[in-house]
Amino acid sequence: MATATFPSRTREILDSLEATGQLKHLQMIEGPMDATVRIRGRGEVVCFCSNNYLGLANHPEVVEAAHEGLRRYGAGTASVRFICGTFDCHERLEERIARFYGVEASYTFTSCWNANEAIFPTLCEPGDMILSDEFNHASIIDGIRLAVSIKKGLLRGVYRHNDVASLREKLEEAQRTSARTGTIWVVTDGVFSMEGDIADLPALRTLCDEFGAMLVVDDSHATGVMGATGRGTHEHWGMAATQVDYFTGTLGKALGGAAGGYIAGSRDAINLLIQRGRPTLFSNALPCSVACSADKAIEVLMREPQRVRKLKDNVEYARAGIESSGFSVLKSPTAICPIIVHDTAKAISMSRKLLDLGVFVIGFGFPVVAEGHARLRVQISAAHERHHLDALQAALKQLHG
Ligand SMILES: Cc1ncc(COP(=O)(O)O)c(C=O)c1O
Repeated sequence: MATATFPSRTREILDSLEATGQLKHLQMIEGPMDATVRIRGRGEVVCFCSNNYLGLANHPEVVEAAHEGLRRYGAGTASVRFICGTFDCHERLEERIARFYGVEASYTFTSCWNANEAIFPTLCEPGDMILSDEFNHASIIDGIRLAVSIKKGLLRGVYRHNDVASLREKLEEAQRTSARTGTIWVVTDGVFSMEGDIADLPALRTLCDEFGAMLVVDDSHATGVMGATGRGTHEHWGMAATQVDYFTGTLGKALGGAAGGYIAGSRDAINLLIQRGRPTLFSNALPCSVACSADKAIEVLMREPQRVRKLKDNVEYARAGIESSGFSVLKSPTAICPIIVHDTAKAISMSRKLLDLGVFVIGFGFPVVAEGHARLRVQISAAHERHHLDALQAALKQLHG
C-alpha cells in the first residue's frame, strides 16, 4: 500500500468496499423531504432515515420564508461575515436562537460541523483540558483534534460513553496534571447520533460544578425533539438552559432541515468567536434564504409545541412496532431507533431489502460506527402518520421472517 500510486490505491479501496458489500450507494431523491420521498428508479417510499424530526423541511411557511429570503436578499452573501456578509436576517435568526434557548447570544455557521470546528480552537487555550465522551459526534472529535493541533499545550481526554465514574476519574486526573493550568471543558452530545441515548446532563453538571469545569452540549439530535417544548436535552432533564455553558446545534435537522449550525451561550464568547473563529473569518456566511427558512422553522416550533408531542407519540408507537416485528431496538425515548445487526454488509443488505418493501432505512457500518456494531438506524418524524409507522412494522416483520 505504501508504494501504491494514488489511482491504484484509490481503486483498491473502492474495490474492496464493493467486494465486501460495504460500498454506499447514493439514492437520488426527486422531490421534497417529507414522510415519504420519491427515489429515482423506485418511486415513493416511506422515509425513516432523515433528520426531519418535526416535518418542517417541506412546511409551506418555511419554504415560503426561503423564497422570500431569495427575493429580498438574492442568491448569496458573496462574503464572509466580518467583511460584508452579515445581513439583517442573520441578526434576526441569531436573536431568535438566543431567545429559543433563553441565553445571551448566538452565532451561526454554514454547518454545525463548522460550529464544532470553531468553538474549541477559539475558546480553549493552552493549559486548558477538554474531556469528551467517547461516542461524541465526529465533528466534535475533529474540532478537538484541530484545537489541540493549533494550540500547543491544550490537553484532551476521552471518558467512557455516558459513564459518570469514568468522567470523574478524568476530572481528578485533570486536577492533578501540572500541565493543566487553565479551564476544564466537558463536551457531550445531548442525544447521541448512533445510539439514540441521552447524555446524563444533571450528573455532568454536578461534576462540572464540583471541578469548576465548563459544560458544552451539542444538541443537534435533541433540538425540537427532547423536552415538552423541544428545547432539547436540558429540558428533558428539567434543567435551565443556563445550566449548560455552551450549546452547539444544527439547522439541518428539526429546525427546517436546510443547513447551518450555531453556537449559543454568553455574549462575550460569541463576540470572541466573531473576532477569532476561523470558520467564520475565512468562510462565507449562511445563505440568507436558509437564515430566513431556519428562523421561520424555529418560529413554527415555538408556536406549535404540539409538533413535539406528536413526534413523541410517534416514537412510542414506532418503538413498540419495531419490538413486535421481532427486532429489538436500543431503549430510549429519542427519535433515533437503532437496531443492532453487527455486520456492515448485513446492515446494507437489510436496508436494500427494506427499500424493496417500500421502506427507506439506512444501514450504518464502519467507519461511521465501530467495526462489529453495524446497525439499521430508524428515525421517526412528526410528519409520519400511523399508516407510515404501520408500514415500517410490516416491512420489518417480513424481513425478520
Ligand atoms: C451531534 C451532531 N453534531 C453535528 C452534526 C453536524 O451537523 P451539520 O450537518 O449541521 O454539519 C451532526 C450531523 O449529523 C450531529 O449529529
